Amino acid sequence: MFTRILFPTDFSVHAKKVKTKILKMKDCGIKELVLLHVVNKKLFGYSPISQELTINDMFIDGDITKSAELKLKGWGKDLESTDITIKYDVVKGNPFDEIIEYSLKENCTLIIMGSKGLTEAEELLIGSTAEKVARKSKIPVIIIK
Ligand SMILES: Nc1ncnc2c1ncn2[C@@H]1O[C@H](COP(=O)(O)OP(=O)(O)OP(=O)(O)O)[C@@H](O)[C@H]1O
Ligand SMILES: [Mg+2]
Repeated sequence: MFTRILFPTDFSVHAKKVKTKILKMKDCGIKELVLLHVVNKKLFGYSPISQELTINDMFIDGDITKSAELKLKGWGKDLESTDITIKYDVVKGNPFDEIIEYSLKENCTLIIMGSKGLTEAEELLIGSTAEKVARKSKIPVIIIK
């Protein structure tokens, strides 16, 4: 189950909690961890300013995907101190569709993600990305509260 874990992140405090849990789980036989960020096409359709990247991030490199790649690599750095092999990837699209498609295409054995993300609506138990991934995924999903 822990051979090839997919960890989708939106860089929120909730995704950071997942990172902390993975560091605690590092002796559970995790072999490979894929950190994935989905550049939400919808957000970029309306505005050049995303909720997921600050304006500063975008100045690092004019290209949004490249900025996201740089941000992702910096964000995942502390996971590199473990024996787990870390891979980084950025794709564009609708987050939940892309997460599910990526998990199948890359033969992942588990998805681990936050219960909420950047929106963090207080009245909701779980965000829509987490809810749809849990409902539609063909592989096991762990949601960290
Ligand atoms: N764009 C994304 N790329 C990768 N992972 C994501 C992305 N968006 C969300 N996630 C993952 O899904 C988890 C739950 O976020 P989710 O989007 O469901 O909650 P939310 O932002 O609070 O609510 P909503 O998006 O429904 O308004 C995050 O902690 C993260 O692990
Ligand atoms: Mg969200």
